[in-house]
Amino acid sequence: MKTLFSDSEEFKFLQEHFNEMKDFSMIDAFESDRSRFEKFSIKFGDILFDYSKNRINEKTISLLTEFARHAGLKDAVNKMFSGEKINFTEKRAVLHTALRSKSDKPVYVDGTNVMPEIKKVRNKMKSFADRIHSGDHRGYTNESIDTIVNIGIGGSDLGPSMVCEALQSYTVEGMKAYFVSNVDSTDIYQTLQKIDPARTLFIIASKTFTTQETLTNANTAKTWFLAQEGVNNEDVAKHFIALSTNNEAVKAFGIAPENMFEFWDWVGGRYSLWSAIGLSIALYIGYHNLDKLLTGAYDMDMHFQETDINKNIPVMMALLGLWYRNFFNAATHAVIPYEQYLNRFPEYLQQLDMESNGKSIGSDGNKVEYSTGPVIWGTAGTNSQHSFFQLIHQGTQLIPVDFLAGAESNNDIGEHHKILLSNFFAQSEALMKGKTPEKAAKELESLGLTEHEIAELLPHKVFSGNRPTNSIMYKKLTPATLGSLIAMYEHKVFVQGILWNINSFDQWGVELGKQLANNILPELSDNKTAMNHDSSTNGLINYYKKLKADQ
Ligand code: F6P
Repeated sequence: MKTLFSDSEEFKFLQEHFNEMKDFSMIDAFESDRSRFEKFSIKFGDILFDYSKNRINEKTISLLTEFARHAGLKDAVNKMFSGEKINFTEKRAVLHTALRSKSDKPVYVDGTNVMPEIKKVRNKMKSFADRIHSGDHRGYTNESIDTIVNIGIGGSDLGPSMVCEALQSYTVEGMKAYFVSNVDSTDIYQTLQKIDPARTLFIIASKTFTTQETLTNANTAKTWFLAQEGVNNEDVAKHFIALSTNNEAVKAFGIAPENMFEFWDWVGGRYSLWSAIGLSIALYIGYHNLDKLLTGAYDMDMHFQETDINKNIPVMMALLGLWYRNFFNAATHAVIPYEQYLNRFPEYLQQLDMESNGKSIGSDGNKVEYSTGPVIWGTAGTNSQHSFFQLIHQGTQLIPVDFLAGAESNNDIGEHHKILLSNFFAQSEALMKGKTPEKAAKELESLGLTEHEIAELLPHKVFSGNRPTNSIMYKKLTPATLGSLIAMYEHKVFVQGILWNINSFDQWGVELGKQLANNILPELSDNKTAMNHDSSTNGLINYYKKLKADQ
């Protein structure tokens, strides 16, 4: 049996090293080593991963990489890529990498090569996207389709919606995409207000096709569609398609098998944008651009699989994350893209990371005695600078940050991009350098403040600095770059799951709330006083009933 994370000798070495590193200063390290940037940065295509502004030295990296080697990382990577059932609580393979593979190598699940099936669905997606874009596919009024509404939630929403937002500059002319996920009727209501039923395709995206939110929204959309003048039942086939693993449920909903795009149980929900769930991406930006996204991800897969640990970007990201989570006790990790198009990237990463590594039971079935996945959060710079950056700079918590930026804008206007990038460069510098009391005092003196005023204000003007960041810079946000960035984070999360010895591929923690909501739903329609719960839940339900009755 694998030695538990914190029992291993390598962990103890790291613990000792952490004690040695307590007074480590990044500024001093840069001053004493002119090659620190070259030493602690990795290039992959045009993506630069600079991790030199971290509380690390060569010994840290050597101990961390040793730790990864001893944790059986190489073996785990091979198992994932070759289709072993590493999702052991659901007895499933984890093969999002096969979905974007550009190689001819077969990948077997239960003795069957899955690659021909993947190709078949891809071809079906391509020809469907071509028929929509060429206008061959017509709606019930014989008009072409120019609007898609993706109805899905979690992985059946976050991936495609984030990618469609990020790659808006690549939109097929005239195409509009909407994403409905929340069961709050406002979400579907607002979308239905904006669309023309005759030119809209509803894409019901659900791996299980049992998800309450998605089916509720899908039924509302279907009822709305059928209520349109001139619409018959047969027209549903022209305006509704499904992306799913569940043939029977799709049929029961009223979507014919030929209008279903299949995927398989070895595609995890949060990894499903690479599967048929990516159809809305193909429809919005063209299949050729979806293909570039896949290629970018595949290139990162190759880098991850083939590059030695200490030059491997996802592995290094994972090890640095672990260094702060398990030794510095950093509870959260911020991701700040200096790219408006990546505004929803942190939200996407929240599901990827927190649904994967928000676990407390190890592979041996016992509770782990160390911290696992951090809280992931963030939003685009520079907006975030004017909201929560105060806490990152001067708060009591250590918050490692990933900054992302492109050297070129997709919409270059005047000085905007230079101003944006000056902020991107400045923030990691400021977090590292901080401001000493001496420097702060000098600044206050130059403003003509009295000695008394300076003494009062000074502590508030000091920045401790020495705060860790990674900077990820690429040439321009293209489909291929985005594919590589997503895959980079996917593999980071995978590596951390291996090191923490947890199953990153199940999500049992989302079930309990669903079960209880199902119990409560019928209670909301009867006239009885709720009594079956704790007094808070009873009280809330009964207050709701009173408010409804008072209407
Ligand atoms: O509730 C969590 C979850 O199971 C996610 O993992 C998944 O991405 C989402 O729900 C949606 O599930 P489905 O695609 O089956 O509707």
